[in-house]
Amino acid sequence: MKPVLVVDFGAQYAQLIARRVREANVYSEIVHHNITASEVAAKNPAAIILSGGPSSVYEENSPQLDPAILKLGIPVLGICYGFQVLAQALGGRVDKTGKREYGATQLNLNSSGVLLGNQPMQQICWMSHGDQVMVAPEGFDVLASTDTTPVAAFESKAQQIYGVQWHPEVKHSEQGQNVLTNFLYQGAGIEPTWNSGNVIAEQIEKIRAQVGDARVICGLSGGVDSAVAAALVHKAVGDQLTAVFVDHGLLRKGEREQVERDYVAATGIRLITVDAEEKFLSALAGVADPETKRKIIGREFIRTFEEAERKLIAEAAADSRPIKFLVQGTLYPDVVESGGGATAGIKSHHNVGGLPEDLQFELVEPLRTLFKDEVRAIGAELGLPHEIVQRQPFPGPGLGIRIVGEVTKQRLELLREADAIVREELSAAGKDLEIWQCPVVLLADVRSVGVQGDGRSYGHPIVLRPVSSEDAMTADWSRLSYDLLAKISNRITNEVADVNRVVLDITSKPPGTIEWE
Ligand code: XMP
Repeated sequence: MKPVLVVDFGAQYAQLIARRVREANVYSEIVHHNITASEVAAKNPAAIILSGGPSSVYEENSPQLDPAILKLGIPVLGICYGFQVLAQALGGRVDKTGKREYGATQLNLNSSGVLLGNQPMQQICWMSHGDQVMVAPEGFDVLASTDTTPVAAFESKAQQIYGVQWHPEVKHSEQGQNVLTNFLYQGAGIEPTWNSGNVIAEQIEKIRAQVGDARVICGLSGGVDSAVAAALVHKAVGDQLTAVFVDHGLLRKGEREQVERDYVAATGIRLITVDAEEKFLSALAGVADPETKRKIIGREFIRTFEEAERKLIAEAAADSRPIKFLVQGTLYPDVVESGGGATAGIKSHHNVGGLPEDLQFELVEPLRTLFKDEVRAIGAELGLPHEIVQRQPFPGPGLGIRIVGEVTKQRLELLREADAIVREELSAAGKDLEIWQCPVVLLADVRSVGVQGDGRSYGHPIVLRPVSSEDAMTADWSRLSYDLLAKISNRITNEVADVNRVVLDITSKPPGTIEWE
């Protein structure tokens, strides 16, 4: 499918636009604003969207667009800064009026045109700009205005060029998705045919072409990315793939079984589980410092994986099909954030907790073009267990960084029980999609006095850290109902020995991080 190119003018808007385009069942790719017209032409895009950005077109060295791109005859939509870039390039007038518009803004339509077709004449949109388009380029229809912005949207159907001052990609813009689909379907004439079924077929073909008849290994973390990546590769090359799952003893309740039993049953993947609990726990003995814990877990993980790898390599050599490839669940945001380079360096190793830099394998990264929600959709389509596909983010170092204090087997067991209760109750209350994740933390070095049964207790507190977030970069604490919190608290203090207090973390990020360590 021909891509829609989203030209990135800085800030975080481009990713969101690219996601919204895909939600409209159209394939999108993000490109840097210094892309040339010939590079654009080589990509043969169905349309181009110019993103917003933090600059002013008046600043020296503000990002510009190769003007020849507008002469390629490809439909273009400019958003916010991209709208002003268009206005300036096409002979309109952009002024620095000193009047800023920020946040929810009342928009008045003069005429719907193609871009604002089937929309109410008055609506709320999300603005964030200082400069204003005062005069539209010649031959353009002005579609909307606000109290402070005379030209808030324009279009030239003949030139297939469209623009809006506001951010249609932001959910606060009431008709935002409608603006995008009007542009994509009507303005650019694109058929909405991109879906997870296509992605699967396309990726299977690509994987087969890359791998040939060589053997492939994959580290499974229990998380959704590696699970879907491995399932795709397995669908493409079957038993040429071996998956390795390291049980480091820091997993949550039922996770190993989910992978070993349910995931294998759903995919038929050849799986090797490495039992490494004792090794990890003895390496962690006596360690309470969070960074030291993380380093130890990372190091042990690499060693354990390498050991499994060596065994597999020896086995593969015996049947003369060498292992040449390693599957990674790298996602599109990782690729974009690391500059969109060929291989996403350190970040691409993130999923399996860090693999050696001098790895002798070529990477297979079937999720490189996908966002998390698309990965989940593909996982569901591939028939993976719901518990894996909908799993909330869980850190590589596992429960090891959710015990404040030394990590011991007994403390892990206690935390595992408390965590299972929280997950069960959140799911039962239908909160899985609303909450980004809910770390459950054991304050192993803290004790407080309580009264349980007929006597005094002196137990540990458990901290609940439910957060809502878009991308984990920032987060807010989730306002769970008191009834739900009460139920969780009751169950934990009744069912988990040695815990006599449950507390709620009501800190946003920043200043707090999501995890406690
Ligand atoms: P923080 O605690 O930095 O976490 O606000 C942001 C997100 O990253 C996850 N996280 C990790 N994931 N390895 C991972 O794979 C790690 O070492 C790690 N540390 C934090 C955390 O769960 C949250 O989703």
